[in-house]
Amino acid sequence: MKILAIESSCDETAAAVVENGRTVLSNIVASQIEEHKLYGGVVPEIASRRHVESICGVVSEAMKEADVGFSDIDALAVTYAPGLIGALLVGVSYAKGLSMATGLPLVPVHHIAGHIAANYITHPDLEPPFLCLVISGGNSHIVEVKSYTEYRMIGRTRDDAAGESFDKVARTLGFPYPGGKYIDEAAKAGSRTAYKFTHPKISDGEYDFSFSGLKTAVINLVHNAEQRGEPIKKEDIAASFQKTVADILGEKLYAAAKSLGYKKIVVAGGVSANSGIRAKMKSVADSLGARLYLPELKYCGDNAAMIGAQGYYDYLAGRRADGSLNALATLSLDDISIKENEDERN
Ligand code: KG4
Repeated sequence: MKILAIESSCDETAAAVVENGRTVLSNIVASQIEEHKLYGGVVPEIASRRHVESICGVVSEAMKEADVGFSDIDALAVTYAPGLIGALLVGVSYAKGLSMATGLPLVPVHHIAGHIAANYITHPDLEPPFLCLVISGGNSHIVEVKSYTEYRMIGRTRDDAAGESFDKVARTLGFPYPGGKYIDEAAKAGSRTAYKFTHPKISDGEYDFSFSGLKTAVINLVHNAEQRGEPIKKEDIAASFQKTVADILGEKLYAAAKSLGYKKIVVAGGVSANSGIRAKMKSVADSLGARLYLPELKYCGDNAAMIGAQGYYDYLAGRRADGSLNALATLSLDDISIKENEDERN
């Protein structure tokens, strides 16, 4: 079964054709990063406008690269939540129009579920249940993935997401937006023990995250050094900060997997591209005697192949949308679960 998938939740306009949820026939991503870089972050209004300009071309390219026409496609999948509302609406409106024009069924896909499903592409043998750490620009979650369409969130961020803290620290160090990959690069040349940052204490949410205090500590360190005219070594700050984030993520994931007994650990989202975090997760999985699944680097950030992968399993579970489908800026994974064999929802 072939699915044409569309993703426009933030600053990437993407389309892909995916077969049976696992085989990517094409994966086109038009990034707007160069334009948002000028402003040090994503400007929602600009993002929406660029999606409008790019979406037709991106979809045509995805069809061309997969060498398919609409008669070869069995269903459409589109990201409808969560994300920037104006950006999401472009993909949702386009997909609804395409569904009406072609008569193809439309499957609404949750963006975070898509990030998790990126691992189904990279690891053909991966099947739920498993425990997943989702670390992206706007989210840090620990999720029990009970089946392809059933989730239980057991940890979430109280403030900044991991990716946000990377981007804000990077900006303070003078790196361009989005700064995660520049921190990753700089960290390779720095000392992970040059600075010691404290881990947040959260008394009423064992598996919840908070990165705002760490971000502020790094920003204050840099600003204080600047005011005193003291030199700083960016590489050391990057390495120490990255180690602290990796340790915090690793501790929580270890505790959750140990207490719930998971032996399959999955990592998803843009920040899962980070080399320090990938290495840390390997050692966490090893100490649990668990198998670790990481997405291939090209599927870590936003893309439509992951939406096509999840769209396949949502389709099989009976999830469908019609012309009344709306985009939602926020929506918890807990609220979209379909239990196996449960009747169609939505
Ligand atoms: O998953 P994603 O593409 O967007 C959302 O769905 O939110 O994640 C983007 C985030 C940005 O914060 C970016 O800085 C971060 O992923 N990122 C990284 C790396 N590559 C991308 N963070 C740390 N290290 C990296 N190598």
